[in-house]
Amino acid sequence: MSKRIPEEFIQQLISDADIVDIISDYVSLSRRGSRYVGLCPFHHEKTPSFSVQQDKNFFYCFGCKKGGDVITFLKEIEHCDYIDAIQILAKKLNRTIPYEQSSGMNAEDEHENHNSLYEIYARLTETFNYCLHKTNEGLQAYNYLIQRGLTPELIDKFKLGYAPAQRNWLYNKLKSKSYSPDFLKQTGLFSKTYPDISIFSGRVMFPIFNRLGNVVAFGARLLSGTGPKYINSPETAIYHKSKVLYGLHQSLQTIKETGSVIIVEGYMDVLAWHQVGVTNAVAPLGTSLTEDHVRMLSKLAKEIILNFDADRAGKQATNRAIELLLAHNCTIKVLSNKDSKDAAEILQKNGPEDLQNLLKFSITIQEYIMEELYSLKTSSFESALSLLFSFMLAAGTHVQRDQLAQIGAQVLNVEKQALLADYQKGNLLHKPTVRSDNLSVVSAKQQIAPEVKADLILLAQLASDVEQFKFARSEIHPIDFENEHVRSIFIVLEELFRKDTFTIPALLHEVEGNPLKDIFIEYITKNVFPENIRQVIGDAINNKKIRVLERQRAEITRKINELQKNTNVLDYSINDLLCEQMFLTNEIKRLREKQS
Ligand code: UTP
Ligand code: MN
Repeated sequence: MSKRIPEEFIQQLISDADIVDIISDYVSLSRRGSRYVGLCPFHHEKTPSFSVQQDKNFFYCFGCKKGGDVITFLKEIEHCDYIDAIQILAKKLNRTIPYEQSSGMNAEDEHENHNSLYEIYARLTETFNYCLHKTNEGLQAYNYLIQRGLTPELIDKFKLGYAPAQRNWLYNKLKSKSYSPDFLKQTGLFSKTYPDISIFSGRVMFPIFNRLGNVVAFGARLLSGTGPKYINSPETAIYHKSKVLYGLHQSLQTIKETGSVIIVEGYMDVLAWHQVGVTNAVAPLGTSLTEDHVRMLSKLAKEIILNFDADRAGKQATNRAIELLLAHNCTIKVLSNKDSKDAAEILQKNGPEDLQNLLKFSITIQEYIMEELYSLKTSSFESALSLLFSFMLAAGTHVQRDQLAQIGAQVLNVEKQALLADYQKGNLLHKPTVRSDNLSVVSAKQQIAPEVKADLILLAQLASDVEQFKFARSEIHPIDFENEHVRSIFIVLEELFRKDTFTIPALLHEVEGNPLKDIFIEYITKNVFPENIRQVIGDAINNKKIRVLERQRAEITRKINELQKNTNVLDYSINDLLCEQMFLTNEIKRLREKQS
């Protein structure tokens, strides 16, 4: 039996270790501004290009591009594996490793605590459901759900509810039931700054069940007024987003019976499918699909149908899901929503039969990839190729990779052998090389567009300070990043933020394989933090918004020109376009004036 080291211990160890201290045992470092530099121990050099960032717990060599956290350093320098590196680090810090036994010391307390959490969530589910049905203010929420096409039976199957608008109502209620303030703090139900204010108020409540049927969290939808559309429970001792799927508990039986599962984007889409009798629909929870989700589903079902939103984000989510799924042995299908945004919209606008019928139109992944490649290749052969390669990279077997190359060759009208050769070459380029010269970075940097560069610098600044990222994520969205590799870095940051693992080492791990990785890390490492960082970032975001709006305006202007050419057609849509163009112009002007 192999020994297990508790994850919390490892994380604590890494965060307690002073990376400069540890590395100084092997490399002579000297301080330069906010970082330390020295001669790289991993390749031969005369001038120092090895840099250590103490506060961010990571090192990076501009020469050989090796980088990572303290554990990576120890692994590389001691030529050992992960566990050995942890043992070495523990020894250096004089810590004893608490190897895991089957029944840990605190297991009982922990068990007790979990039970109390399950109990409070179960209780609240009933309370919110009661409020939905039996209170005056709950009535508007109930009517809202009915108006979106849900029946009372479905509302009860999913135990939907309503949280009263009074913001300290929940706290007072629970306190009167003699829950201690300390316990309430751990429930994830209340604001961290104001422990008596519930994060859920005046919203429709969607209880999130784990697989076994215990409620472990809530999603809460805005009914009216301003604020985020959904507020979701944070992670707690009983709730780990990346392992839970909305609707899985209610779908489990059908999934097992039919061997098929539909993955959708939102709470409302899960409900819509179940409403029309398709009771095997699940959704991830405000995050993209994770490896854990995919592993879980591929064990339950042979067939996985992807039914994400019909917008760019949805397309991106589909492609990402395919990449994850390719490595597993399951049949992947894609179901597009035709002219509607999502399943919920189809139910509300066209009725249950239409949604039920849609199911017939799912296509195989081969067909989907063909369609994607066809539509991409007309505008950009490069993007078609890069999509194909990302699928090939994700393929679980050589045979599968070869089949993908076959499809690509057919659609793109090139030799399969040529595709495979280019794929191999591209792959080598993306792999971290042990030894290379600075030239490649320089030339790569010269090639990147100024817009991409500005975005990368912004992301580097955001990556270094979670507070700034928090601010930025409320202002800009993944689709605002035009370059797909930049966009994927932003998405990684968002995921790390949501998982509460917003650290540079975690980030480095996630951007592995991104062609912009080296330049990005270089910006992180070189990053000087101006005193007025918020203003600098604010300006950068402002600039970015202006660029996005200008792009939209250009597109609209193009459409207007096209319509105006066709003067014999009576087309009122030009009025809408002119209106939108005016709105964009005003908005751009406003943002320009804001610029400091
Ligand atoms: P959508 O905006 O598509 O929401 O986001 P929806 O579930 O379809 O809801 P309706 O139909 O507009 O009412 C998809 C999912 O993304 C997460 C939620 O999990 C949501 O179901 N999300 C969205 C959030 O977590 N927060 C948000 O502010 C928005
Ligand atoms: Mn939606």
